Amino acid sequence: MEKIIDGKKISEEIKKKLKSRVLALAKKGIKPGLAVILIGNDNASQIYVKNKERVAKELGINSQIIKMPSETSQKKLEKLIFQYNADKKIHGILVQLPLPKQIDTKKIFNLIDSKKDVDCFNPENIGRMMVNDTRFSPCTPIGVIELLKKSDISIEGKHIVIIGRSNIVGKPLAIMLINLGATVTICNSKTKNLQKFSSQADILISATGHAKLICADMIKQNAVIVDIGVSRNAKGDLVGDVDYANVYNKASHITPVPGGVGPMTIAMLMKNVILATENQI
Ligand code: GUN
Repeated sequence: MEKIIDGKKISEEIKKKLKSRVLALAKKGIKPGLAVILIGNDNASQIYVKNKERVAKELGINSQIIKMPSETSQKKLEKLIFQYNADKKIHGILVQLPLPKQIDTKKIFNLIDSKKDVDCFNPENIGRMMVNDTRFSPCTPIGVIELLKKSDISIEGKHIVIIGRSNIVGKPLAIMLINLGATVTICNSKTKNLQKFSSQADILISATGHAKLICADMIKQNAVIVDIGVSRNAKGDLVGDVDYANVYNKASHITPVPGGVGPMTIAMLMKNVILATENQI
């Protein structure tokens, strides 16, 4: 049993399977189409979008990046969404977050056709998840669940503590884990005595963006540690929430940053694009 959960390796295995689904679609003359809308010049967003495009190409998915200036109006973005909702060659629509201040983000995700909502940010798809009638699963949370499953770590009956309550990671992940029979505790930056909760976790999942938040005395002996956090240290390197070297010996399994959850998020996005295509034809 590998102690380090290798997200890069697991995502490569998943991509191999996805490639065969793309080939099956190609035999019917269909190429999955993904529209990625990027507004403004946010550095991290530009890197995320480039990575998404690279993997889409690798799998034979037609990805179109639509770059718009940061002063783009709500009306203009809505028009673009309607255009792609109606476009039969586009099966998935992704609006990269964060959006500039003048844009009503909630309204935009309401307008994306729920069948093309490959991020699973549309209220209909989130609602479906709540009642265990899932159409799409949000990419980072399902990426975490796949990592656990592929590492033979059972979820049912486990006490899973999530640190982070965002709409795109913490909250949906909690619902999905509840659907799988876990006992879930959700903590956040206001939680008093975080250690009291984190040290009870069979599986501890951190998604805060605070480097070195999780050290050995925050965790239980032999806990599974999943690090979704992303930030940069003083040297400019990408780091997670977990003090990896400090926690390593005490954990039974641990995800590295980079090379843990990150590659899974993109693989799951591509899986959603292929699923959306299969459902639309
Ligand atoms: N910005 C940061 N993460 C994400 C994501 O998963 N999807 C989108 N659309 N934007 C993001």
